[in-house]
Amino acid sequence: FEYAAPANEPVLSYAPGSPERAALKKQLAAFKAEVADIPMYIGGKEVRTGNTVDLRPPHEIKHKLGHFHQGDASHVKAAIAAALEAREKWANMDWEQRAGIFLRAADLIATKYRFHMNGATMLGQSKNAFQAEIDSACELIDFLRYNVHFLSEIYRQQPVSAPGIHNRMEYRPLEGFVLAVTPFNFSAIAGNLPTSAAMCGNVVVWKPANTQVFAANMIMKILIEAGLPEGVINLVYAGGPLIGDICFADPHFAGIHFTGSTGVFQTMWKTIGENIHKYKSYPRIVGETGGKDFVVIHKSADVDIAVTALARGAFEYQGQKCSAASRAYIPSNLADEIKSKLVAEINTMKMGTTEDFSNFINAVIDERSFDKIAQYIDNAKNDPKAKIIAGGNYNKTEGYFIEPTVIEAADPRYVTMCEEIFGPVLTIYVYEADKFEDLLTTVDTTSEYALTGAIIAQDRYAVELATRRLVNSAGNFYINDKPTGAVVGQQPFGGARASGTNDKAGSMLNLYRWLSARSIKETF
Ligand code: SER
Repeated sequence: FEYAAPANEPVLSYAPGSPERAALKKQLAAFKAEVADIPMYIGGKEVRTGNTVDLRPPHEIKHKLGHFHQGDASHVKAAIAAALEAREKWANMDWEQRAGIFLRAADLIATKYRFHMNGATMLGQSKNAFQAEIDSACELIDFLRYNVHFLSEIYRQQPVSAPGIHNRMEYRPLEGFVLAVTPFNFSAIAGNLPTSAAMCGNVVVWKPANTQVFAANMIMKILIEAGLPEGVINLVYAGGPLIGDICFADPHFAGIHFTGSTGVFQTMWKTIGENIHKYKSYPRIVGETGGKDFVVIHKSADVDIAVTALARGAFEYQGQKCSAASRAYIPSNLADEIKSKLVAEINTMKMGTTEDFSNFINAVIDERSFDKIAQYIDNAKNDPKAKIIAGGNYNKTEGYFIEPTVIEAADPRYVTMCEEIFGPVLTIYVYEADKFEDLLTTVDTTSEYALTGAIIAQDRYAVELATRRLVNSAGNFYINDKPTGAVVGQQPFGGARASGTNDKAGSMLNLYRWLSARSIKETF
């Protein structure tokens, strides 16, 4: 069946006095009044081990939201077994029926569980209401609906036939199970990685980040309510290396759908390589990894566009988007104006809990992240090649709060211009406005990553030059806009180099990876 491109899910504003704000506040209060007991889901059954890990809002670490039950090797093996048991029926189910489950899940989020999803993401991952809405409601709904659309397009693609010959292509699921390993920073990605593979007829073992379990549990419950059969997606909580070691040693391992750090992805790839002789087929390895995303400002730039791209691109969700602007190149002719407007803009950003909707900045995800970011800031404070021009303070007594911080580097190869920090830290470098071409070479060569980037310029020649020279520097390139906020169906998302395999999330390119085609020729 054909499923036309859907409209993107409209974004609610949560303006003061709006009904959605009241509903979301009510849900936040309900979550805070209870202590959630979160099981694993293996073969459709809830599994509790008693070995629990507490969940606390990163912005209010004294409050316990709940806990989840952690598994061991036996649970990982049980999840694989349950997936393999469900496989045949799921792979052979009518595609219309399979698609219906995911479309129902999208509708359930849109109409019944929107505030549950957003509330869980706000408390569990410390996202403000608007950032939660564009992630755990809109983007997740869009992934579910658009992937059904893309898959319906793929299934319709057929080879030509000839006189006396009928050819067709059968888009089979992979022969085995897929492991989905999902990050903390987007509930939409956490939902997308297991469901996109499952939609294609695959069975999945899903390991979310510990810091995203509160919302992951909600996604799983919604999928079950939408009719997902037992064992198709199995949600397990256990150490990443343990899950990896067991899954990668299994002869039925068929692929990994990953979003997370470059280092973890490379380690996984090596382990898969070491086990390659065990598998029936070469596994599909799909990963979105790190970034060091840039904003290049040309001397012809509109200063207000530039400042907005920097402030929002770098500091929304505390800079913890893989797409977040973290290095900026500012032309000497506009440097004073851009710096002072940027600092003024940052001074308007209130920091605090997500429950107070006037806060723009919330906490970073956990203590490890906090310590790592604070270390970069401290190093900059003590380095003559760097100067902190905004923020620079941090405090973890109530939650993991770090002020939006701008470091000005005297050298485009200063450490925070090159390394991924994954926090609210933007490093700027002022370049000689007339050396734009040289600057583009610097932008391309200072980082191993190539996820997102932006050029801000009014001069069309500069736009074209940057677009051409930075051809391999970013998988998502923005002209006169911030480098974050890709919308499913509009800007397929992903990068190459150390940023991943660039199998664009929310596009046919991604779904092809979860299918293994068979050509069938019949003569008559
Ligand atoms: N898709 C997100 C963005 O574009 C990042 O994962 O911001």
